[in-house]
Amino acid sequence: MKRHGYPGLAGHRAVHRDFVKEAERFRRQLNAGGNLSEVFLFLSRRLIDHIMKEDRRYMAYLPGGKENK
Ligand SMILES: [Fe+2]
Repeated sequence: MKRHGYPGLAGHRAVHRDFVKEAERFRRQLNAGGNLSEVFLFLSRRLIDHIMKEDRRYMAYLPGGKENK
């Protein structure tokens, strides 16, 4: 992202940091006897949502991605 001049890099980094914190919170819940399938569903949906929305935003800044802007 930095190499290709993506202007949303700082915000994207913040989203990733939040996701890591959230995953860590779920890990603690699981260690305390939380429901694995609920955690898996929540995290997988969040990850898919992130890839389909946030990660797609920088595609336009990659080589050959101008048609996505
Ligand atoms: Fe991302």
